[in-house]
Amino acid sequence: MSSNDGIDKLRAIEQQFDRERASVVDRKSLEDIRTRYLSRKSGLLTLQLQNLGQLPREQRAEFGQAANKVKAKIEASLETLQTAIVEREQHSSLEGEAIDVTLPGNRKRIGHRHPLTIVRKEIEDIFISMGYTVEDGPEVESTYYNFDALNIPAGHPARDPRDTFYISEQTLLRTHTSPVQVRTMEKIQPPVRIICPGRVFRRDQFDPTHSPMFHQVECLVVDQGITFGDLKGTLERFHKLFFGEKTRTRLRPSFFPFVEPGAEVDVSCGFCGGPGCRVCKGTGWIEVMGSGMVHPNLYGFVNYDAEKYTGFAFGGGIDRYAMLKYDINDLQLFFQNDMRFLQQF
Ligand code: PHE
Repeated sequence: MSSNDGIDKLRAIEQQFDRERASVVDRKSLEDIRTRYLSRKSGLLTLQLQNLGQLPREQRAEFGQAANKVKAKIEASLETLQTAIVEREQHSSLEGEAIDVTLPGNRKRIGHRHPLTIVRKEIEDIFISMGYTVEDGPEVESTYYNFDALNIPAGHPARDPRDTFYISEQTLLRTHTSPVQVRTMEKIQPPVRIICPGRVFRRDQFDPTHSPMFHQVECLVVDQGITFGDLKGTLERFHKLFFGEKTRTRLRPSFFPFVEPGAEVDVSCGFCGGPGCRVCKGTGWIEVMGSGMVHPNLYGFVNYDAEKYTGFAFGGGIDRYAMLKYDINDLQLFFQNDMRFLQQF
């Protein structure tokens, strides 16, 4: 071998290195290429240098210089690649740790009131503002308070076990909030001005307008000189405050054993405003309550002087008020607790 052959070889190695360095992308490929060219035992360049001894003496210097030049070039090039790789690694690890302070945070969900609670409180607030107090009564009730003292005689269809959840012969889940009328009159003397919201129970199957448990609000006013006009005025005021000033209230003669006279209470349909629609079934009116003047027989049960006092009472479904207020067409939604529903309130 002559030094010229050797120098050609060196040039070929240098060119090969220049091609291969392009594929160095990380520490591993860098080490691979370093080993391939410079490893002490088998590096391509090392092997060339081992040929040095076989050259004629006068050619050794020239070849040696050329080989060292290539080696220096490769080493410098590897150095540059190494720096680039380290920089790239630092950059990408910083990038991975970076925090974008403009991203929205994880908002913690906080609880809020159930729609029925919202509506109950709204009703309570309206009556409290008119001077009423809020009373409570037991959900497990006696037949005496639920029926007898409300002038509902034995054998009345409302007492049928097919409609009422009996716990024993004389204990039941109250079917309405009206027993609180009697309990209140037993407790306090007129003037009486109370409302009582609460749960009531009837043997109904679930459907969009029925549930075996629902909510009512009862109202009772007893004093000297209370008239049917006071009943109508109170209902009108309440409905305007609850549904809006445009709302009208209508009373239709009806019968409940504990009032005389009795009336069904309708409000003007807030959805169509009168002409009739799906919600009011084309009538322009929606039935919301039962009402009437307290039946004198009740005063006998609670030792009120029926000659001295008169009063009115009404009771209606809180769930129904909530359905009308929020345009909800299925009562069951209130009790299924689907978060997609509840989150809307
Ligand atoms: N308690 C009656 C019902 O559940 C409603 C009502 C209350 C009627 C007060 C008249 C007076 O249907």
